[in-house]
Amino acid sequence: MSYIYNNLNLIDLNDYPVSWWEKLLDLGHKILTDPEAYAESCKGKIMGTLFYEPSTRTQMSFQTAMLRLGGTIIGFDNPATSSVAKGENIKDTTKIVSGYADIMVMRHPVAGSVKAAALTAGCPVINAGDGGHLHPTQTLTDLLTLKEEKGTLEGLTIGLCGDLKNGRTVHSLIKAMSCFKGTNFVLISTPELALPAYIKDIFSAGGHKFKEVTSLDKAVGELDVLYMTRIQQERFTSREEYEKQKGCYILDNKKMAAAKKDMIVLHPLPRVDEIAIEVDDDPRAMYFKQAKYGMYIRMALILTMLEGRDKPAPLITGRVRRHHNCANPLCITHKETYLPHYFRGDGSLLECEYCDERTLAE
Ligand code: NCD
Repeated sequence: MSYIYNNLNLIDLNDYPVSWWEKLLDLGHKILTDPEAYAESCKGKIMGTLFYEPSTRTQMSFQTAMLRLGGTIIGFDNPATSSVAKGENIKDTTKIVSGYADIMVMRHPVAGSVKAAALTAGCPVINAGDGGHLHPTQTLTDLLTLKEEKGTLEGLTIGLCGDLKNGRTVHSLIKAMSCFKGTNFVLISTPELALPAYIKDIFSAGGHKFKEVTSLDKAVGELDVLYMTRIQQERFTSREEYEKQKGCYILDNKKMAAAKKDMIVLHPLPRVDEIAIEVDDDPRAMYFKQAKYGMYIRMALILTMLEGRDKPAPLITGRVRRHHNCANPLCITHKETYLPHYFRGDGSLLECEYCDERTLAE
């Protein structure tokens, strides 16, 4: 069986250098100032959107992005209406769709699933969210919003609040922001929803300042950016556990009164109850504008990937270890058992190539 096509894929933003992201952000800025100039840029091209998990913004902004570039779209937003319902595996579904489409966007509830698809797909694959793992195109959206609204990506004190354990947007954003000088992270969560260790290690590796706090009230005054997130109900193993965490952070006008005059509030959306509706009228509430930036940056991404002039990032840098299993029960290797078990590292700690979780070498 042949694995690893050499396409330009976007699985994890950090697979590419910061200069590549900056090129995308510049193109996103150009597109948002003159979208009509790009109305025919993808004429004749087809994008496949494979959404195995619910989505409003990501799916629709990808679809409108392609349509605004003059291309067309195919795909499903409910796997129950595709052959997935008959038991088809990811490899077969994505291999087939990549034969029909020029580019493929995929969201799936299991960590590492989009990388698994990219191994055998015959066209570029974009990760639109893989379980609680990563969400690189939301991060591109967040970076464009920060650049347009704060004028810089350096020296920002950013508070991330809510479900830091399961929030893939948080994981991707931290990985990206830790590549910019002077980022100061304030992690606001309950101990149960704290950031996974493998993400926290990024701070020490990059020498970034970070602190973990439980009170939003106490932290809000020092922030340049407040990134609110939803408690990820669908990632909890039991309803009781979710009920204990539900409603733990609610941003309202009273808390906003203690924030800096130029702090901005971001949220990948959807919101449940973590931002009171009254905050929407505050000029610092940027989340609806943020969602629109998402469409422009996705236009820039589709264009860049279809041009194919950039060097593809290697999908796999480690090697197959037949007798090792990933320690993360939510990793795709436990669901799609035909997948080769790729790990990075040679020491006592191996890193799963699909979900990045660490496993002790036996
Ligand atoms: C996020 C996601 O799907 O991870 N939404 C999005 O893509 N804008 C955040 C969430 O669902 O809470």
